[in-house]
Amino acid sequence: MAIVCKSAAEIEKMRQSGRIVRQVLDHVKGLVAPGVTTMDLERTAEQKIKDLGAKPAFKGYYDYPCVLCTSVNEEIVHGIPSETRSLKAGDIVSIDCGVVLEGYYGDAAITVPVGEAVKPEFRKLLEVTEQSLYRGIEQARIGNTVGDVGAAVQELVEANGFSVVREFVGHGIGTRLHEEPQVPNFGARGHGARLREGMVLAIEPMVNCGKPETRVLGDKWTAVTADGSFSAHFEHCVAVTKDGPVILTQ
Ligand code: MF3
Ligand code: CO
Repeated sequence: MAIVCKSAAEIEKMRQSGRIVRQVLDHVKGLVAPGVTTMDLERTAEQKIKDLGAKPAFKGYYDYPCVLCTSVNEEIVHGIPSETRSLKAGDIVSIDCGVVLEGYYGDAAITVPVGEAVKPEFRKLLEVTEQSLYRGIEQARIGNTVGDVGAAVQELVEANGFSVVREFVGHGIGTRLHEEPQVPNFGARGHGARLREGMVLAIEPMVNCGKPETRVLGDKWTAVTADGSFSAHFEHCVAVTKDGPVILTQ
Protein backbone atom coordinates (compact mmCIF):
# COMPACT_ATOMS: atom_id res chain seq x y z
CA MET A 1 0.00 0.00 0.00
CA ALA A 2 1.48 3.32 -1.08
CA ILE A 3 1.61 6.56 0.88
CA VAL A 4 -1.62 8.54 0.40
CA CYS A 5 -1.35 12.31 0.04
CA LYS A 6 -4.32 14.41 1.14
CA SER A 7 -5.96 17.40 -0.58
CA ALA A 8 -6.42 20.68 1.28
CA ALA A 9 -10.09 19.77 1.78
CA GLU A 10 -9.14 16.41 3.30
CA ILE A 11 -6.61 18.05 5.59
CA GLU A 12 -9.38 20.41 6.72
CA LYS A 13 -11.51 17.37 7.64
CA MET A 14 -8.59 15.88 9.55
CA ARG A 15 -8.26 19.16 11.42
CA GLN A 16 -11.84 18.64 12.62
CA SER A 17 -11.16 15.12 13.91
CA GLY A 18 -7.88 16.35 15.39
CA ARG A 19 -9.67 19.14 17.21
CA ILE A 20 -12.06 16.63 18.76
CA VAL A 21 -9.19 14.41 19.93
CA ARG A 22 -7.61 17.45 21.59
CA GLN A 23 -10.88 18.41 23.30
CA VAL A 24 -11.20 14.87 24.66
CA LEU A 25 -7.59 14.82 25.91
CA ASP A 26 -7.95 18.26 27.56
CA HIS A 27 -11.14 17.11 29.25
CA VAL A 28 -9.67 13.83 30.49
CA LYS A 29 -6.46 15.53 31.64
CA GLY A 30 -8.56 17.74 33.93
CA LEU A 31 -9.82 14.61 35.66
CA VAL A 32 -6.42 13.07 36.44
CA ALA A 33 -5.85 12.98 40.21
CA PRO A 34 -4.86 10.51 42.92
CA GLY A 35 -7.65 7.97 43.51
CA VAL A 36 -9.14 8.21 40.02
CA THR A 37 -9.14 4.91 38.09
CA THR A 38 -8.08 4.59 34.48
CA MET A 39 -11.60 3.27 33.77
CA ASP A 40 -12.97 6.60 35.10
CA LEU A 41 -10.87 8.30 32.40
CA GLU A 42 -12.17 5.84 29.79
CA ARG A 43 -15.83 6.46 30.66
CA THR A 44 -15.40 10.23 30.53
CA ALA A 45 -13.60 10.00 27.19
CA GLU A 46 -16.24 7.76 25.64
CA GLN A 47 -19.02 10.16 26.63
CA LYS A 48 -17.06 13.18 25.40
CA ILE A 49 -16.35 11.61 22.00
CA LYS A 50 -20.07 10.91 21.63
CA ASP A 51 -21.04 14.45 22.72
CA LEU A 52 -18.68 15.90 20.11
CA GLY A 53 -20.31 13.80 17.37
CA ALA A 54 -17.34 11.54 16.56
CA LYS A 55 -16.66 7.80 16.86
CA PRO A 56 -13.79 6.22 18.80
CA ALA A 57 -10.99 4.90 16.58
CA PHE A 58 -9.34 2.38 18.91
CA LYS A 59 -12.34 0.41 20.27
CA GLY A 60 -12.65 -2.70 18.13
CA TYR A 61 -9.41 -2.02 16.25
CA TYR A 62 -7.78 -5.49 16.26
CA ASP A 63 -10.26 -6.20 19.08
CA TYR A 64 -8.82 -3.49 21.35
CA PRO A 65 -11.54 -3.08 24.04
CA CYS A 66 -11.49 0.67 24.87
CA VAL A 67 -11.57 4.21 23.44
CA LEU A 68 -8.39 5.23 25.31
CA CYS A 69 -5.02 3.69 25.98
CA THR A 70 -3.96 4.59 29.54
CA SER A 71 -0.34 3.64 30.26
CA VAL A 72 0.91 4.20 33.80
CA ASN A 73 4.58 4.56 34.87
CA GLU A 74 6.63 1.71 33.29
CA GLU A 75 3.82 1.07 30.79
CA ILE A 76 4.85 2.58 27.45
CA VAL A 77 1.72 2.36 25.28
CA HIS A 78 -1.49 0.35 24.83
CA GLY A 79 -2.32 0.10 28.55
CA ILE A 80 -5.95 -1.00 28.88
CA PRO A 81 -8.18 1.09 31.19
CA SER A 82 -9.09 -0.84 34.32
CA GLU A 83 -11.58 -0.47 37.16
CA THR A 84 -8.91 -1.63 39.62
CA ARG A 85 -6.04 0.64 38.52
CA SER A 86 -6.23 3.72 40.77
CA LEU A 87 -3.79 6.51 40.00
CA LYS A 88 -1.45 7.41 42.89
CA ALA A 89 0.36 10.66 43.66
CA GLY A 90 3.75 10.43 41.96
CA ASP A 91 2.53 8.34 39.02
CA ILE A 92 2.70 9.47 35.42
CA VAL A 93 -0.08 8.43 33.04
CA SER A 94 -0.06 8.51 29.27
CA ILE A 95 -3.44 9.03 27.65
CA ASP A 96 -3.77 8.14 23.96
CA CYS A 97 -6.99 8.80 22.04
CA GLY A 98 -8.14 8.35 18.44
CA VAL A 99 -11.42 9.33 16.78
CA VAL A 100 -12.96 9.17 13.33
CA LEU A 101 -15.22 11.89 11.96
CA GLU A 102 -16.79 11.66 8.49
CA GLY A 103 -14.26 8.96 7.55
CA TYR A 104 -11.13 10.83 8.63
CA TYR A 105 -9.01 9.87 11.63
CA GLY A 106 -7.33 11.88 14.38
CA ASP A 107 -4.86 10.45 16.92
CA ALA A 108 -2.95 12.12 19.75
CA ALA A 109 -1.41 11.37 23.13
CA ILE A 110 -0.18 13.21 26.21
CA THR A 111 1.54 12.10 29.41
CA VAL A 112 0.58 13.86 32.63
CA PRO A 113 1.85 13.81 36.22
CA VAL A 114 -0.53 12.60 38.92
CA GLY A 115 -0.61 15.00 41.89
CA GLU A 116 2.31 17.18 42.96
CA ALA A 117 4.67 14.45 44.18
CA VAL A 118 6.13 13.45 40.81
CA LYS A 119 9.93 13.16 40.98
CA PRO A 120 12.00 15.77 39.12
CA GLU A 121 13.50 13.03 36.95
CA PHE A 122 10.04 12.04 35.71
CA ARG A 123 8.99 15.67 35.18
CA LYS A 124 12.08 16.03 33.02
CA LEU A 125 11.13 12.86 31.14
CA LEU A 126 7.75 14.42 30.28
CA GLU A 127 9.34 17.71 29.21
CA VAL A 128 11.99 16.08 27.04
CA THR A 129 9.52 13.69 25.41
CA GLU A 130 7.14 16.52 24.51
CA GLN A 131 10.01 18.67 23.28
CA SER A 132 11.31 15.77 21.16
CA LEU A 133 7.88 15.57 19.52
CA TYR A 134 8.20 19.24 18.51
CA ARG A 135 11.73 18.62 17.19
CA GLY A 136 10.29 15.86 15.02
CA ILE A 137 7.37 18.01 13.86
CA GLU A 138 9.80 20.75 12.81
CA GLN A 139 11.30 18.26 10.31
CA ALA A 140 7.94 17.37 8.70
CA ARG A 141 8.67 19.40 5.57
CA ILE A 142 8.41 18.79 1.83
CA GLY A 143 11.67 17.20 0.61
CA ASN A 144 12.79 15.98 4.05
CA THR A 145 12.63 12.27 4.92
CA VAL A 146 11.10 10.21 7.74
CA GLY A 147 14.72 9.66 8.83
CA ASP A 148 15.05 13.42 9.42
CA VAL A 149 12.03 13.26 11.73
CA GLY A 150 13.31 10.23 13.65
CA ALA A 151 16.85 11.56 13.95
CA ALA A 152 15.63 14.87 15.38
CA VAL A 153 13.58 13.05 18.03
CA GLN A 154 16.36 10.63 18.88
CA GLU A 155 19.08 13.28 19.17
CA LEU A 156 17.21 15.33 21.76
CA VAL A 157 16.14 12.29 23.76
CA GLU A 158 19.62 10.76 23.93
CA ALA A 159 21.29 14.14 24.64
CA ASN A 160 19.16 14.16 27.80
CA GLY A 161 20.18 10.64 28.86
CA PHE A 162 16.89 8.94 27.99
CA SER A 163 16.23 6.29 25.30
CA VAL A 164 13.74 5.92 22.44
CA VAL A 165 11.61 2.83 21.98
CA ARG A 166 12.28 0.96 18.71
CA GLU A 167 9.46 -1.61 18.58
CA PHE A 168 6.61 0.92 18.30
CA VAL A 169 6.58 3.74 15.77
CA GLY A 170 4.47 6.58 14.41
CA HIS A 171 2.53 6.25 11.18
CA GLY A 172 0.73 7.87 8.30
CA ILE A 173 -2.94 8.59 9.05
CA GLY A 174 -5.99 9.57 6.98
CA THR A 175 -8.99 7.44 6.04
CA ARG A 176 -7.37 4.70 8.11
CA LEU A 177 -5.82 4.94 11.59
CA HIS A 178 -2.56 3.43 10.39
CA GLU A 179 -1.29 4.22 6.91
CA GLU A 180 2.16 4.21 5.37
CA PRO A 181 4.80 5.33 6.03
CA GLN A 182 6.03 4.08 9.39
CA VAL A 183 7.55 6.97 11.34
CA PRO A 184 10.25 5.69 13.72
CA ASN A 185 11.51 7.88 16.57
CA PHE A 186 15.08 7.09 15.56
CA GLY A 187 16.96 7.06 12.29
CA ALA A 188 19.48 8.77 10.08
CA ARG A 189 19.06 12.11 8.39
CA GLY A 190 18.34 11.83 4.66
CA HIS A 191 17.18 8.20 4.96
CA GLY A 192 13.73 6.68 4.53
CA ALA A 193 10.64 7.80 2.61
CA ARG A 194 10.75 11.33 1.24
CA LEU A 195 8.00 13.66 2.50
CA ARG A 196 5.66 15.17 -0.06
CA GLU A 197 2.93 17.79 0.06
CA GLY A 198 -0.27 16.44 1.60
CA MET A 199 1.21 13.64 3.65
CA VAL A 200 -0.17 13.45 7.18
CA LEU A 201 2.01 11.83 9.85
CA ALA A 202 1.20 10.76 13.40
CA ILE A 203 4.50 11.48 15.12
CA GLU A 204 4.63 9.80 18.54
CA PRO A 205 7.87 9.53 20.51
CA MET A 206 7.89 6.88 23.25
CA VAL A 207 10.76 7.63 25.61
CA ASN A 208 12.15 5.52 28.46
CA CYS A 209 14.06 6.76 31.51
CA GLY A 210 16.23 3.64 31.33
CA LYS A 211 17.00 1.20 28.55
CA PRO A 212 15.01 1.11 25.28
CA GLU A 213 13.93 -2.55 25.39
CA THR A 214 10.26 -3.45 25.73
CA ARG A 215 8.02 -6.41 26.40
CA VAL A 216 4.27 -6.99 26.11
CA LEU A 217 2.23 -8.20 29.09
CA GLY A 218 -0.01 -11.29 29.19
CA ASP A 219 -3.04 -9.17 28.21
CA LYS A 220 -1.38 -9.07 24.73
CA TRP A 221 -1.62 -5.24 24.62
CA THR A 222 0.22 -3.45 27.41
CA ALA A 223 3.78 -2.63 26.34
CA VAL A 224 6.15 -2.04 29.27
CA THR A 225 9.83 -1.21 29.63
CA ALA A 226 11.92 -4.38 30.05
CA ASP A 227 13.90 -2.74 32.90
CA GLY A 228 10.83 -1.35 34.70
CA SER A 229 11.91 2.27 34.17
CA PHE A 230 9.21 4.92 33.63
CA SER A 231 8.18 5.82 30.08
CA ALA A 232 6.41 8.77 28.44
CA HIS A 233 4.49 9.23 25.18
CA PHE A 234 3.33 12.33 23.29
CA GLU A 235 1.67 12.33 19.87
CA HIS A 236 0.37 14.82 17.28
CA CYS A 237 -0.94 14.44 13.74
CA VAL A 238 0.97 16.74 11.40
CA ALA A 239 0.28 17.70 7.76
CA VAL A 240 3.19 18.32 5.40
CA THR A 241 2.22 21.51 3.51
CA LYS A 242 3.75 24.22 1.32
CA ASP A 243 3.71 26.42 4.41
CA GLY A 244 5.61 23.83 6.47
CA PRO A 245 4.35 21.46 9.18
CA VAL A 246 0.75 22.03 10.33
CA ILE A 247 -0.35 20.38 13.57
CA LEU A 248 -3.88 19.02 13.14
CA THR A 249 -4.41 17.89 16.75
CA GLN A 250 -4.32 21.32 18.39
N1 MF3 B 1 -1.90 5.89 19.02
C1 MF3 B 1 -1.73 4.46 18.99
C2 MF3 B 1 -1.30 4.05 17.62
O1 MF3 B 1 -1.15 4.86 16.78
C3 MF3 B 1 -2.91 3.76 19.52
C4 MF3 B 1 -3.41 2.55 18.85
S1 MF3 B 1 -4.23 1.62 20.02
C5 MF3 B 1 -5.18 0.52 19.20
O2 MF3 B 1 -1.02 2.92 17.34
F1 MF3 B 1 -5.86 -0.08 20.06
F2 MF3 B 1 -5.98 1.15 18.40
F3 MF3 B 1 -4.43 -0.30 18.50
CO1 CO C 1 -0.78 6.80 16.70
